[in-house]
Amino acid sequence: MAEELFIPTDTDRSAIYEALFPQLEALIGDESDLIANLANISAVLKEAFGFFWVGFYLVKEGQLVLGPFQGPLACTRIPFHKGVCGAAYTRKETILVPDVEAFPGHIACSSASKSEIVVPVFNRNGTVAMVIDVDSDQLDDFSETDAREIEKIAALISRKL
Ligand code: SME
Repeated sequence: MAEELFIPTDTDRSAIYEALFPQLEALIGDESDLIANLANISAVLKEAFGFFWVGFYLVKEGQLVLGPFQGPLACTRIPFHKGVCGAAYTRKETILVPDVEAFPGHIACSSASKSEIVVPVFNRNGTVAMVIDVDSDQLDDFSETDAREIEKIAALISRKL
């Protein structure tokens, strides 16, 4: 695909996700390198929505290890039982956190992060291979729309695993 992203302006978040999805499909469709694909997905989400931090934590060596991301410096390793990422891994479900300070065990990589969503990405055999972590510097910035749309992106990645 052309290395240029089309992002509709003057519209709501769900319309932006709708415009992005086929572009993401095209972007990673013919590329087999996982790290390259995760790097570009992080870049696309960051550019399209201006999120504070977007990235991946990969299941490695019995913990979650930082993968490709866009945004400020982040924690490198997260135990499975810690933080929002650990909760998404353990519960095998999307976790929406409207206020990170109210989430027990939240790992504060940055005090600027106020709300977040973490979505698991599954292997073909149904185990969690990684999580997508998106952080906002606004409180209550994520909705069911983000959950549904980021889960679609997670399913797209799963097809490549
Ligand atoms: N918020 C995460 C930690 C990772 S950073 O936000 C990038 C958590 O509590 O799982």
